[in-house]
Amino acid sequence: MKIQKVMVIGAGQMGGGIAQICAQAGYDVLLNDLQEDSLDRGLTVMEKNLSRQVGKGKLTTEEKEAALNRIIRSTNLDDASGADIVIEAAVENMTVKTEIFKKLDKFAPAHAILATNTSSLPITEIAAATKRPEKVIGMHFMNPVPVMKLVEIIRGLATTNEVYTRVEEMTKSLNKTPVEVNDFPGFVSNRVLMPMINEAIYTLFEGVASKEAIDDVMKLGMNHPLGPLELADFIGLDTCLSIMEILHEGFGDSKYRPCPLLRKYVKAGWLGKKTGRGFYIYE
Ligand code: NAI
Repeated sequence: MKIQKVMVIGAGQMGGGIAQICAQAGYDVLLNDLQEDSLDRGLTVMEKNLSRQVGKGKLTTEEKEAALNRIIRSTNLDDASGADIVIEAAVENMTVKTEIFKKLDKFAPAHAILATNTSSLPITEIAAATKRPEKVIGMHFMNPVPVMKLVEIIRGLATTNEVYTRVEEMTKSLNKTPVEVNDFPGFVSNRVLMPMINEAIYTLFEGVASKEAIDDVMKLGMNHPLGPLELADFIGLDTCLSIMEILHEGFGDSKYRPCPLLRKYVKAGWLGKKTGRGFYIYE
């Protein structure tokens, strides 16, 4: 069956971006969050992003309006009854995700694929919360979604080839490049990226250099477009901490222990760009 109706769970940084590119590619989108004000925030960001593209001449005003008109708001998971695929992008927490997937399994039609944008949680465990593990898959977009080309596609233990192929085709229709990976903590992207970010935080914690110096070394010396601390702020420090905890627990190796400074910032509510303060301060 052709995928036409996409439900996106979570209207935050990632969910908003995923909803935007799906709408721009012509899919009908249901954007779900817990509260109306979260939907308001997500849609405002999207409106700004699309207006910027109009300003740059990459999009017409009509195309912008058409994309926004394809998005319907939802605060009820039973709206999944109208979806061909659900892409979950709520917070990085296994309890939250398994609760969502149990409900989606109940409400979504039998043919619907249930995908998660998790950065690091095991797809197989999320799938086991449903009675359709063969239709559960990881669809890991990168931040910012409208800009980054990669989608890591992660098979759970039971994911069928047919489901994999349909998700791969949908990814291409969004003008993204799918890369297939297996279900291990952090997949490939965060297995490699997050320990580097955590080490940069240790470098700051131990007083080896200032935050600006650490970021400059990696930008000017390694040609990274963003320094690791700037990138951590951009990803969200709560998300970084969750991923490090999952790597630490998943591999049982102390090399993945989260830096105490990262924990401290998260406890303080300094979550990075999204809260206005992380390693840096944002207006
Ligand atoms: P965020 O904090 O910006 O947004 C999360 C949204 O989910 C919020 O609007 C929140 O209200 C909503 N939410 C929470 N519980 C919910 C529920 N039960 N039902 C519906 N909505 C709910 O987080 P962000 O950065 O968008 O991350 C979302 C997911 O994407 C996480 O699993 C994260 O690991 C993953 N991810 C994050 C990336 C990043 O760079 N931030 C990159 C790739 C994946």
